[in-house]
Amino acid sequence: MGQSARQQRRVAVVTGGLTGIGLAAAKALADQGHHVAVGSRQADNVHAIEDARAVLGAQAHISRLDVASQPSVDAFTAMVRHHFGPPTILVNAAGIYREAFFPDHSDRDWLDQIEINLNGPFRMIRALWGDMLEAGWGRIANVASTAGSVGAAGYAAYCASKAGVIGLTKSVGVEGAPHGINCISVSPTWVETPMMDNAIGRIAKDKGITPDAARERLTRSNPQGRLVQPEEIASLIGFFCTDASLGLTNVDIQINAGADW
Ligand SMILES: NC(=O)c1ccc[n+]([C@@H]2O[C@H](COP(=O)([O-])OP(=O)(O)OC[C@H]3O[C@@H](n4cnc5c(N)ncnc54)[C@H](OP(=O)(O)O)[C@@H]3O)[C@@H](O)[C@H]2O)c1
Repeated sequence: MGQSARQQRRVAVVTGGLTGIGLAAAKALADQGHHVAVGSRQADNVHAIEDARAVLGAQAHISRLDVASQPSVDAFTAMVRHHFGPPTILVNAAGIYREAFFPDHSDRDWLDQIEINLNGPFRMIRALWGDMLEAGWGRIANVASTAGSVGAAGYAAYCASKAGVIGLTKSVGVEGAPHGINCISVSPTWVETPMMDNAIGRIAKDKGITPDAARERLTRSNPQGRLVQPEEIASLIGFFCTDASLGLTNVDIQINAGADW
């Protein structure tokens, strides 16, 4: 039997799947024939949903999820399980970043980034662990960042949260190994998404340059002289969610185009 004939249609959950890397990952999984459920805080934003449906197709399910709230995680995962069956693919793409030099981090800035970027994936994995255990198969892809492996001025909470995601990934990978549950983190450099657009706005303001000039600066700062696209992250996640990735777990994979950060 060929590889493609062995792939099953599975239920996939993608957090932060209305935009950027999450949306591209949701599309890659929908294109593989999986039933995709997207969770976002903006699931009542008609325009955002229309835009996502244009990419994902009418079948994709989109509903409200705040990964910072345990009741929201419980309600979302119960709804997906009830309507579509037990999810065995999880992509944790939801994330935020706020810049401030370390002494200027407010408690709110620190706690929000840890809460969403690190505690969020922990809650989601814990909520779906039983489904994957029962299936004897699972794929968990956590979108971390090169920021989890290097430091940078102005990003202490973000770096700490992403370093935490890499540690979480490795522990879950070890615990999942005997049960057919694989867990990786994918760590990109700058990727052209709404999150990067925010960074460009900030750079333009700080340096007194136009947003186009700031974008050009970011582009030139990459050794490949280009901005990585969300689809590049999604294609690795797509491969990871096939049976061909049997031994791929317990690892952080960078998509950095030659950059350290
Ligand atoms: N772009 C980059 O350069 C880059 C580089 C390395 C890593 N990353 C990581 O990649 C992931 C995706 O980011 P992106 O670049 O695609 O930016 P993005 O388009 O801003 O995506 C982030 C998504 O997270 C969602 N989100 C934020 N807080 C949430 C919460 N509490 N509950 C549920 N969803 C939440 C947002 O949707 P709502 O606001 O609607 O909820 C948004 O759709 C993030 O984890 C980010 O840290 C990005």
